[in-house]
Amino acid sequence: MTKFTVNNRPVEYRMDGDTPLLWALRDASNLTGTKYGCGTGDCGACMVEVDGEAIRSCLVTIDELEGRFITTIEALSRDRSHPVQQAWAAGNVPQCGFCQSGMIMAASVLLKKNKNPSNDEIDEAIANICRCGTYPRIREAIQRAAR
Ligand code: FES
Repeated sequence: MTKFTVNNRPVEYRMDGDTPLLWALRDASNLTGTKYGCGTGDCGACMVEVDGEAIRSCLVTIDELEGRFITTIEALSRDRSHPVQQAWAAGNVPQCGFCQSGMIMAASVLLKKNKNPSNDEIDEAIANICRCGTYPRIREAIQRAAR
């Protein structure tokens, strides 16, 4: 049994310890805002926050996270007042939208560490892939959220 905290709630997963966090969140906790894109750590659609770091949840097993604090997009979007979400809405960032929860999680972690990131720092921190090419709007939204 694996125990950790998801969105400020303790959870216990009775799953194989090798299960990637992505699938525990989606299948056991019904937190489907965390998306499956590639499953190999390349796209970032599955990004969550673990103890203040942006982590690709397809790459970590639940046993590796015993006792850790995990935040998913659902925690940020609960009342739609998170500054990153407001900036995303104001900038009409999403196109198809599939990658955007991962983008928002990466942006949120970046802004906790760097209150005023340059475009170069944004590009370095946000290595997620958007097949619609919304990168310019993502940069603008992060700059807007930083203000
Ligand atoms: Fe995890 Fe693509 S699904 S990085």
